Amino acid sequence: MPRPIKKAVFPVAGLGTRFLPATKAMPKEMLTVVDRPVIQLAVDEARDAGIEHFVFVTGRNKSVIEDHFDKQYELEDTLRARGKSEALAELEKDLPGAGQTSFTRQQEPKGLGHAVWCARDIVGDEPFALLLPDMVMHARPGCLKQMMDVYNQRGGNGIAVEEVPWEHVHRYGVVGAKDWKDNAFTIDGMVEKPPRDKAPSNLIISGRYILQPEIFGEIEKQKPGAGGEIQITDAMIRLMAAQDFWGVKYKGTTYDCGDKVGFLSANVALALERPDIGPDFRAALKKILS
Ligand code: UTP
Repeated sequence: MPRPIKKAVFPVAGLGTRFLPATKAMPKEMLTVVDRPVIQLAVDEARDAGIEHFVFVTGRNKSVIEDHFDKQYELEDTLRARGKSEALAELEKDLPGAGQTSFTRQQEPKGLGHAVWCARDIVGDEPFALLLPDMVMHARPGCLKQMMDVYNQRGGNGIAVEEVPWEHVHRYGVVGAKDWKDNAFTIDGMVEKPPRDKAPSNLIISGRYILQPEIFGEIEKQKPGAGGEIQITDAMIRLMAAQDFWGVKYKGTTYDCGDKVGFLSANVALALERPDIGPDFRAALKKILS
């Protein structure tokens, strides 16, 4: 049985430049899909997959994320006094338990690989999950749960992938796939932003990973790559020489909420599904589109 995964890392120190001016003073991870911040959706997904400790790699202007995962006594007292027990229960359900969160700072946004490396002492010598919160992976069961099911069989390192049109592969990290078993496969190559004719497949690296702690040593060896940033893909490519990597073509839909169209699409799709507001929203949307 592979070592259990109890910790998840959430890198939230990026500047969110694609979403300015909204992200000038507010973290992009607090943007909401309907009424839930995207960081809450990622934490929900991790908790449903069995994660017990949530590690946030934050930066300046991000302290509101820490507050979001804390108690708000004044608000709770007011809800209690007004008899709003449903809203109160909802807030309590979302809150991680005492001691289940850790926050560390990246100080400078030097790339995703560097953000992950900043969590090394909190993660320690254990495999861990990595979730990019701006990628909303809408799935039931959740994407990380689907990955955990494969991890429990295979161990090693895992990446959630999704298919994109071939003409878009040059924008992403792409994996080569062999030995498919249902929707899981062995990764036999990984390349960052390949031209279409050099891409091993049209399966791109999405926003969920399961990684062994040796990844930290590989990140450490790295020189800054594209845009002066330390990327995670380069470290994974090196770790692949020593350890197994598998992929899961997860069942669900990804919305890149760091991108305006992705963010708006997530809001529309998830609002339409909601039993409380879906019918009214559908009618409103019809009117807008007519
Ligand atoms: P992105 O590249 O989507 O985030 O990183 P960004 O850099 O904030 O966005 P743009 O391109 O400027 O609009 C994916 C995740 O990794 C985090 C981000 O906060 C986001 O959740 N990240 C990125 C870090 O924590 N540190 C970094 O140096 C870079």
